[in-house]
Amino acid sequence: MRYKNVAKVLISEEEIIKRTNVLAKQITEDYKGEKLLLVCILRGASLFFADLVRKIDLDVNFDFMAVSSYGAGTSSSGEVRIIKDICEPVEGKNVILVEDIIDSGNTLQYLVRLLKQRNPKSIKIAALLDKPERREVSIQGDYIGFTIPNEFVVGYGLDYNEKYRNIPEVCVLKSEIYES
Ligand code: IMP
Ligand code: MG
Repeated sequence: MRYKNVAKVLISEEEIIKRTNVLAKQITEDYKGEKLLLVCILRGASLFFADLVRKIDLDVNFDFMAVSSYGAGTSSSGEVRIIKDICEPVEGKNVILVEDIIDSGNTLQYLVRLLKQRNPKSIKIAALLDKPERREVSIQGDYIGFTIPNEFVVGYGLDYNEKYRNIPEVCVLKSEIYES
């Protein structure tokens, strides 16, 4: 394997780009004539966000939010902390939260509830990956790149202990890395 500590590539760079373009086209059609605030959830969604937004042909604003729900490990603590809030006002705007992966759903449930209190015109979720088997709360994405099995993945922005984010594809880590 060309990447260190990786067992296999789950989704290739080419597949990611192809699917991201499809999602961007869908978003462009769905919001025709509307303004859109795209919110990148740092840090995991950064690469997906960068590839997605440049293919959206609309009048858009960007903003960034940083949250933490994970300590070191491969499962969510369920507790979400805002490290950095968005700067833009949300009232009356169409908002899309752009996330790397929906796992337990806790992070997005928390963020959607928080932003709804600020009276957006609409709020939707775009996520590169969805792991429905792991869901603990009822939350659904509106624009999903890929539905994946219950395996811990890294790359294309996703990390394990802050590593592997720069791998350009979505990969399954060797299990001995997080089991040891
Ligand atoms: P949730 O709150 O459990 O839905 O978790 C969302 C966050 O957990 C994501 O934004 C990721 O940062 C992290 N996460 C969940 N599954 C994975 C994975 O397979 N690889 C890397 N990070 C993950
Ligand atoms: Mg994340």
